Amino acid sequence: MPKLAVNVDHIATIRQARLAKEPDPVHAAFLAEMAGASGIIVHLREDRRHIQDRDVGLLKQTVKRALHLEMAATQEMQQIALEIKPYMICLVPEKRQELTTEGGLDVASRIEELKEYLKPIKDSGIKTSLFIDAEEKQIEAAQKVGSEYIEIHTGHYADAEDEVQRRTELKKILKGIKVAQDFMLKVNLGHGLDYENIWAFSSIPGINEYSIGHSIVARASLIGMERAVREMLEIIRTFAD
Ligand code: PXP
Repeated sequence: MPKLAVNVDHIATIRQARLAKEPDPVHAAFLAEMAGASGIIVHLREDRRHIQDRDVGLLKQTVKRALHLEMAATQEMQQIALEIKPYMICLVPEKRQELTTEGGLDVASRIEELKEYLKPIKDSGIKTSLFIDAEEKQIEAAQKVGSEYIEIHTGHYADAEDEVQRRTELKKILKGIKVAQDFMLKVNLGHGLDYENIWAFSSIPGINEYSIGHSIVARASLIGMERAVREMLEIIRTFAD
């Protein structure tokens, strides 16, 4: 069965709206794991708009399965990753003005730089992933960089404005999954996935993990974290492996 990793950034978004102590992403991660999540994801942004350094440190101590750290390819983040030692890091592009990550990382134009950047991280035993668009040149570049995993950006598919666009974006992702598998890369999918649009991947084998945040946290705000995670897992459980 494909795995589900739950991104708890937006629990921290609510907390930071009041610069308060609650809700705590550490508690949310605990409940998500209790409900069956295989991993917990946080994005420590340069501007610390939601997840704080304290959260990452505590999550490293409390997450029982896999802690995934999304991060920009900066020196500061490299140092934090080497100190915290999450299970996996995922490199993402980061712009201060964006509401959320807007597109995949341009790996193709930075192959040598990213290879160098990831070397100490890989050497310390942390798994690596690159968040990229489903383009052949980016997938091939990810393989050249030596990342074991990629996360294919599903945001353009999720945000499609009509059925024609949705089908076009879906086709690109499905082709990207195939290309990545031919390159022996392990494939995760993420961004904008929810309880309805995820069904498009139900018959696609070989997807390692779904990375989902907003839709689960949105549902959790109304019906609770455990139920929201369980309901997503009930869907994924029916998918091809
Ligand atoms: N994957 C990456 C690389 C992301 O940046 C995000 C958003 O933080 C997600 C997955 C999760 O996206 P969403 O919150 O839309 O489910």
